[in-house]
Amino acid sequence: MQDYHEFLDEIIIGEEDLQRRIAELGAEISRDYHGCKLHLICILRGGVLFLADLMRKITIPNTIDFMAVSSYGVGARRSTGDVRITLDLQEDIRGRDVLLVEDIVDSGYTIATVMEFLKTRRPKSLSVCTLLDKAERREIDVPIRYRGFVIPDKFVFGYGLDIDELYRNLPFIGTVNAERYHPPE
Ligand code: IMP
Ligand code: MG
Repeated sequence: MQDYHEFLDEIIIGEEDLQRRIAELGAEISRDYHGCKLHLICILRGGVLFLADLMRKITIPNTIDFMAVSSYGVGARRSTGDVRITLDLQEDIRGRDVLLVEDIVDSGYTIATVMEFLKTRRPKSLSVCTLLDKAERREIDVPIRYRGFVIPDKFVFGYGLDIDELYRNLPFIGTVNAERYHPPE
C-alpha cells in the first residue's frame, strides 16, 4: 500500500475545519428537529466517520441504522447509475423522522435511488445530510437539506472516502494526483 503522501495533491479540508463544520451541522439539525426523535441512516461504508462525529454533536434523542449500496466497483471512479441495495436496514422506518447521512453526493444517483427505496416504506419525513457536495457533477436533482462543504470536481479521499477501499481512516479530505497514484495489486 502506497503512503498517501506520495499521491496527495492537496488537503482541501483539514481536520479542524471538518470538525468545526460538523459541530455546526449537529447544532442546526438539533434545532430543526427539536421535540422529535431523529432516526439517522448511514450509508456504508463512506458515511461511517461522518455519522460517528455528527451524532456526537446532535443533542436531541436519536437512533441509528445502516444500509449499503454499490454504485461502482474497485478501479472505477464514477457511478454507473445502476445503484443496487446490498444491505437493507435492520429496523422499520414507517412513521419516523429519517435523516440520511452520506459522505458525498456526486452524480446524485446513489442518494436518488436510496430515497426512492426508503419512501416506499412511508417514513414521516425523509431528508439528506451530506458532508460533501460535488455540485458541478450532478446528473440527477436531489434535495439536500444539510451540506457540509461544496467541493470542486476532483477525486477526493480520507475521512470515510476511499481510493480502492483504502485511506478511509485519514482525518482530512485530500485530492489525488492521479499520475502518482498506483492501484494496489
Ligand atoms: P453518486 O451516486 O455519483 O452521487 O456517488 C456517490 C458515491 O460515490 C459516494 O457515496 C462515494 O462512495 C462515491 N464517490 C463519489 N465521489 C467520490 C470521491 O471523490 N472520492 C471517493 N468516493 C467518491
Ligand atoms: Mg466509495
